[in-house]
Amino acid sequence: MSAETPLLTRDAAIALLEWYREAGIDALLEERPRDRFAETAAESAARQSAAGASGAKPVARNDPAPERASAPAPGSGPASEPSGGFPAIRVAVPDDLAVADARERARSAESLAELQEVLAAFDGCNLRISAKTTVFGDGPDVAELMFVGEAPGREEDIAGVPFVGRSGQLLNRMLEAIGLEREAVRVTNTVPWRPPGNRPPTPAETQICLPFVQRQIELVRPKILVCLGSPAAKAILGAQEGIMRIRGKWTHYSFGLEANQTIAATAMLHPAYLLRQPAQKRLAWRDLIALKARLAE
Ligand code: URA
Repeated sequence: MSAETPLLTRDAAIALLEWYREAGIDALLEERPRDRFAETAAESAARQSAAGASGAKPVARNDPAPERASAPAPGSGPASEPSGGFPAIRVAVPDDLAVADARERARSAESLAELQEVLAAFDGCNLRISAKTTVFGDGPDVAELMFVGEAPGREEDIAGVPFVGRSGQLLNRMLEAIGLEREAVRVTNTVPWRPPGNRPPTPAETQICLPFVQRQIELVRPKILVCLGSPAAKAILGAQEGIMRIRGKWTHYSFGLEANQTIAATAMLHPAYLLRQPAQKRLAWRDLIALKARLAE
């Protein structure tokens, strides 16, 4: 093929881009495809054998995590080879060691400011590679009411603040309807990085991020914790049933707290779902009334 011959016609290139967009691919990371499965398997094997050889438990690393590292962090596997002249992106391996490392790091934070710093330095979740910002949380450090959603969307990723897009605006109106100001409420997500194309976070991504949101709940220690939608209820409250069955029911959140310090917790329909199914707002309204009564107790 001569240098002048285009690889694709303009229409074919547009059709290909459109197909990528529909598949959820909305960010170009590198020019050439990489076999991430082979890379992560090799890294995982190297880390497991290093941990086995030293008999050591994973320890918290204090080195700040570069967004796009060209050298491996201590204890991690080999760095990815640079490809196409682009700096290599080091891919994290979300195995048990990485989850234990995340737990240890999160536990080391004694305040929300410290936790935010620890999270900003954490490179164990690959979602951060494509996310623009780390969406930590919004609202006061001490709050009676705390909401946890699933993961940031496009608007949240741009702003670095949870629930600022259409769902967030509906959440604000829901709060107003029961006489609460958004500014008085702590809001965060189970996963602090936007999954590409707004796909749901994978179970491995959720597991690795969980220690950070758990620590955030522990540090805020609200009177009432509300999970928005099924994924948050499953991850945070260990709910086994779908949101339609568990919404409006009350339980206790106790992870990381002392036995006598549980937090009253419930789940509500996610505002994004209510935007798609406005008829279900009547159920949300019932749950809001119950929430208001519970806050007044
Ligand atoms: N949906 C969520 O679950 N969280 C956000 O922050 C925005 C939309």
